Amino acid sequence: EIASFCQLWTEADVKQTLPVRKRSSHKGTYGKALIIGGSRPMPGAITLTAKAALRSGAGLLTMAVPDDIYPVVANRIPEAMLFPCQTETGYFAGAIDFASLDVDAIAIGPGMGRTAGTNQIVQATLAQDVPVVLDADALFFWKEYAFLLKTRTKPTVITPHPGELARMLQLSIQEVEKHRFTLSKQLATDYGIYVVLKGPYTIVTTPDGKQYINATGNPALAKGGSGDVLTGIIVAFLMQHDSIQTAVSNAVFVHGKAADWLVQHGHSPHSVLATDVIDALPSILFELR
Ligand code: APR
Ligand code: MG
Repeated sequence: EIASFCQLWTEADVKQTLPVRKRSSHKGTYGKALIIGGSRPMPGAITLTAKAALRSGAGLLTMAVPDDIYPVVANRIPEAMLFPCQTETGYFAGAIDFASLDVDAIAIGPGMGRTAGTNQIVQATLAQDVPVVLDADALFFWKEYAFLLKTRTKPTVITPHPGELARMLQLSIQEVEKHRFTLSKQLATDYGIYVVLKGPYTIVTTPDGKQYINATGNPALAKGGSGDVLTGIIVAFLMQHDSIQTAVSNAVFVHGKAADWLVQHGHSPHSVLATDVIDALPSILFELR
């Protein structure tokens, strides 16, 4: 039985723990992120993730995308490097060659689709000896790789919304909503992973069962793409914090705070786009510095 630990992650916590950029530093200091995702029907999700990671301080960023969305993705983010991958009918065709990549953290899933290629790449990703963030379609194949998670030596972070968690645990969404704390704690401790159960009052649970509640964010985020932005902030922060819990909690806080700032500065919550949330990150990170 795990002793219960649950606390609100506050702005004071964030201000105390957000990393500063040192004068004697270079891009390598802040980490090389690899972001894997995208497909012909969903080229935007991974673009949002990448932009958010860059706006959150990642030193270098490479996007692994199916070859046939390469041009559109490359055109949208001049700061990113691209790793075009073999395509099959608009989706990843299968394994990618990690040996030719040198990365410090990986985020995988946004807009990837639920194909056999996704399943293969997720498994290959989990074999890499770096922190991994699993989101969106990468969570679809949970049952295929969950047993592998305990053997990983570097942290794993999963970012399900209640619908995704319900599917993973074969429960109804109502059951998930009713038992948000116990289910995320069970999952985190059983598999030795960090669980970010999203929604209003997102809960971050550590592998040892500690829980941190986030109170930022508002319904402006209830729109396709918001989760993709969060994944980008998380992967960038993982590379810049010593503590994974602090990195993840700070990312969740900043993501919600950016949406809060927008609705307090002339944006109707109806109109806020995921892109606007990314564009608000410079101001939020300035205020929290
Ligand atoms: N209050 C506060 N935060 C909110 C609210 C709200 N009312 N609504 C949403 N959010 C936040 C969540 O906490 C989360 O961080 O917005 C984000 C939404 O993330 P997702 O549910 O993953 O949404 P989305 O970006 O649309 O996902 C894109 O990935 O998960 C798949 O099936 C999903 O195809 C979809 C794609
Ligand atoms: Mg999502």
